[in-house]
Amino acid sequence: MNGYKLRAKEILSGMSLQEKIGQVTQVNFDAKDIEASCQMVKRICPGSIILCWTELGGNEKQQQVRREALDLLQKTAVEETNSKIPLLFGRDVIHGHHISFPVPLTMTQSFDFELIERSYDAIRQEAVADGVKWAFAPMLDMSHEPRWGRIVEGPGEDPYLGSMFARASIRGFQTDDYTRPDAMLACAKHFVGYGASEGGRDYNHTEISDYNLQNNYLPAFRTAVQEGVATVMSAFNDVNGVPVTGSKKLLTTVLRDQLGFEGFVVSDWAAIQQLYTFGSFCEDAEDAAKTALQAGVDMDMVCNTFYDNIQTLMETQNITADDLDRAVLRIIETKLKFGLFDNPYTYKGTYNRNEHLKLAEQLAAESIVLLKNEDSILPLSGKETLSCCGNFIDEGEEMVGSWSVDYDPSLVTTVRRALLNAAPSLRLTNCDEFSVYKRSAIKNSDYVLVVLGQERSVSGEAASIAHISLSDSQRSILRAAHSSGKKVIGVLCFARPIALGEDKELFDALLWCGHGGTKAADAIADVLFGKVSPQGRLSFTLPHDVGQLPLYYNSLPGSRRINEYYNDVDPEHSNYYDCTGAPDYPFGYGLSYTKFDISDFSCDCSEIKTADLKSGKKLRVSFKVINTGEKEGVCLPQLYIRDLKASRIRPLRSLIRFCRVSLLPLESKALYFDIDLECFGFYSELGEFIVENGEFELYLGENSLAENKITVKLI
Ligand code: NOJ
Repeated sequence: MNGYKLRAKEILSGMSLQEKIGQVTQVNFDAKDIEASCQMVKRICPGSIILCWTELGGNEKQQQVRREALDLLQKTAVEETNSKIPLLFGRDVIHGHHISFPVPLTMTQSFDFELIERSYDAIRQEAVADGVKWAFAPMLDMSHEPRWGRIVEGPGEDPYLGSMFARASIRGFQTDDYTRPDAMLACAKHFVGYGASEGGRDYNHTEISDYNLQNNYLPAFRTAVQEGVATVMSAFNDVNGVPVTGSKKLLTTVLRDQLGFEGFVVSDWAAIQQLYTFGSFCEDAEDAAKTALQAGVDMDMVCNTFYDNIQTLMETQNITADDLDRAVLRIIETKLKFGLFDNPYTYKGTYNRNEHLKLAEQLAAESIVLLKNEDSILPLSGKETLSCCGNFIDEGEEMVGSWSVDYDPSLVTTVRRALLNAAPSLRLTNCDEFSVYKRSAIKNSDYVLVVLGQERSVSGEAASIAHISLSDSQRSILRAAHSSGKKVIGVLCFARPIALGEDKELFDALLWCGHGGTKAADAIADVLFGKVSPQGRLSFTLPHDVGQLPLYYNSLPGSRRINEYYNDVDPEHSNYYDCTGAPDYPFGYGLSYTKFDISDFSCDCSEIKTADLKSGKKLRVSFKVINTGEKEGVCLPQLYIRDLKASRIRPLRSLIRFCRVSLLPLESKALYFDIDLECFGFYSELGEFIVENGEFELYLGENSLAENKITVKLI
């Protein structure tokens, strides 16, 4: 047994029932009355303090964290309580702290997970210096629902990218040495399936088959567990009619027995209380506390259902001492493993803010996706005259994104200011919303720049919308811009996927920027002027119309051969009578200021024995990439697989490999991907990993519609 496990047992054996109940309780505190809060710590001995005071922390102003106050509370816990167990301070550090990085959905567009890891490392340094030891991140909810406000907090629609995001963010938070005083605990959330909220309505029921759960919703959590994630948050939603927070099957059989999770589970905000206040799953508070504890929730976030009921449940023998001890032990073990007993106080280190700002700008710029660039309008030279309009031309703070509770507004600039900073010779003239076509200024301008976006409060928790297109006023600005006769450069700053539909035809060049954080505006300037070559790729599908939802690249094929996503259409049929079934832009899509040619796609064997793959052999897929254009650029070859015949219907395509390669004009590189057993298999409904013999198609290209194809056979 590991040393920390033995030590945890010893600590547990010296604890009173009240102290144990305190450990499984997370509370917040009165920041204005620290003395009273210290008394509360003495009385309750809580396991954790959440630094969030409202139910919807993501879009509401929160009290700022003062590390002196946290140190006083900590002093009380470690010096003035009997058990002397340090408090764990948790906060929603989702995609930044004082410097906001792009929201997760935007940052995954970079496909640069090494940079994402470095970004989380920077985020950690800032948060830990304020006394935050535990981040309620990463959010690993896969989602096919652009209407759902929280899609912005997650990695998108692809479980492979979800796993890469899990790995990068957890490594950034937890570092490679958990006992470092400046390491943080990460929290993989929301376990599991919350991203499937029906109709995109937040907190809604989710309908997920076990097969889908295993192959789509669990992979990112599997990786999180492999990466040693310290904690997991149980989700609000139900799966198979059982709220996850009360599901022993999910929290124990799947999370612990199958995935091998060893840390502790915290409930989401008041999720235990909701087992009886909403729906009809539990009788009352006592029943809810018992159900959650026995299902595998170890800590109760803010609602005191554990605190108020565990003693009675013990006295009435409705739960056993073991039920409680198991949870307490997991919490203490985790605290020991992360060195909290040795270093309970705020880490007093410093960090290099300028370095972090550079990193944030790089990630925001790399995340921008070029959707259109007719006649190579972009990049701009910086000497043009632009007529500009749109609701985000003078915006900056809206792009820091939802869940930016600690960001420093003084570091944020607007798009207009960023453009002028980057290109002092640029001339920007305003064209007012409704008279855009009348203004004589337009006649003298080279292009019209239309910067449109959606406010951050319209994304995130409890911020779902039914219309995922441009608003009427945005559309009228765009139409006016288009009818001016000048070419229109569009900059879209929407944190969630939207359906542009026919509106996309009105742009001549188009950048998809998401919500890029503190440096969003500067990053837009970097890409518009070509300081950074556009290299982002969509980590989700941009649908054509809200009526197509859900629409995602790795769907399972239907029973007849119609799938307009892949232009696979039976002449007699289409997906809809009144709308295309194809997306506006598919998963993985993104252009560059140059062009690439991918050729010589081959595999080192056309057949391989499954047994050889099982013993570690790999297939090598080789290809060549050449930059055929006149500018340096980053190509992102993507490899997809399709299992042609299996005992379960397999997705039309699944991303299995990609790489980022920078090429000078006319430069070419010979590249390869090694593919292993994992790429060929899938999970059964029960969570067994299965690989079946047969034919597999491999597709290589620059997005999910890749057409270069080879076939390999497993025998
Ligand atoms: C509820 C949210 O669902 C969760 O993601 C967040 O961490 C907690 N509130 C704490 O703010």
